[in-house]
Amino acid sequence: MPISERLSRLGSGVFARNDQRKSAYVARAAREGLPPLLDLSLGSTDLQPPAVAIQAMADQLGAPASAAYCLHGATRPFRQAVAHWAERRFGVAVDADTEVLLLVGSQEGTAHLPLAVLNPGDRALLLDPYYPSHMGGLHLASAEPVLLPLDPTAGWRPQFEALSPEQWDDLKLMVLGFPHNPTATTGQQAWVDEAAERAVRHGVVFAHDNPYVDLALDGEAPALLRSPLWRDCGIEFFSFSKSWCLGGYRLAFAIGAEWLITALRQLKGVVDFNQSLALQAGAIAALEQAPAWPGQLRTVYRQRRDRMAAALEAVGWPVRRPSMALYLWLELPPQARGMGSEAFGAALLEATGVALTPGNGFGPAGEGWMRLALVHPEEELAAGAARIGAWLASL
Ligand SMILES: Cc1ncc(COP(=O)(O)O)c(C=O)c1O
Repeated sequence: MPISERLSRLGSGVFARNDQRKSAYVARAAREGLPPLLDLSLGSTDLQPPAVAIQAMADQLGAPASAAYCLHGATRPFRQAVAHWAERRFGVAVDADTEVLLLVGSQEGTAHLPLAVLNPGDRALLLDPYYPSHMGGLHLASAEPVLLPLDPTAGWRPQFEALSPEQWDDLKLMVLGFPHNPTATTGQQAWVDEAAERAVRHGVVFAHDNPYVDLALDGEAPALLRSPLWRDCGIEFFSFSKSWCLGGYRLAFAIGAEWLITALRQLKGVVDFNQSLALQAGAIAALEQAPAWPGQLRTVYRQRRDRMAAALEAVGWPVRRPSMALYLWLELPPQARGMGSEAFGAALLEATGVALTPGNGFGPAGEGWMRLALVHPEEELAAGAARIGAWLASL
């Protein structure tokens, strides 16, 4: 069967293999009476969304309009709620008609954007490590990725000066995201401001993927919307998945320069209609009636972070305390240096039933690292650390 070259470049291999290993472990655990799988490999939270959001969806589910295709015009109440949120959150006046777009996920939006702004062969800058769909989007658009490695010894600061002015001139798109997955670094507004300045100077589209905007544990999350240049260069992606625990409902939005919003909307018009009005009602309720929800999530994640970091350190795995919620980004422990992320993850899973994500799935700079998602209650995380510790001691 014919398969496109584009598809063969997508390279979701690390994640697919990890999934196969998890399934194999579950089957073996059932056969052999092993401890159950503790899956810390996905940023899919166990924490619950606000009841007002679910109720608002439930109230609208049976309405005939919720079952109909939703054209862009009908998303206006959602876009207005987003504009009010932007005003409250960042003090920025956003035009709900021209500068806001409903999305099916910030993953969907960032993966589609390159098709709307790039021609085949155009160059686009990604951080390394990167979120996989950022790379996937470039491959879908047959674009050329240019990787900017993040350096732990520089506090993961993107070293934009590593590219010459000519290389900057050569770029058409730059995709960043702070707070940053997978390094679990909040980052600084100055980094985003510098990126915006360079984007304007060199005529680069700046896409800032910001689903963790409400989940900074130390300091305030950066935002492109806080840069005075956002309308001159950029588009920012926000999500209901992390701040309001609505990941399965697939709700997100973009705010950006009018021409970028228009371009993405045109592109998406080929691919899908909008989410049901019932889901949009839930999103509006989350924005308007549960603005404090992310704050209580931060409290839980902070406790989990501290407990898990202490538990891993107690068993000999040093932890850099992350400044954002949801993940630990762990260098392979001293006992396993040189082993490779994927081999380490496979051996850990086989021996303990604890699944982490091998860092090499996030790009070359992720090799030698593992990502652990804090998506189980504290007690379960601590028990997982004990399982890991017993295995590390046996190495
Ligand atoms: C950087 C980044 N972008 C996008 C997503 C996906 O967000 P959504 O559920 O809105 O598609 C994630 C999820 O983990 C992420 O880490």
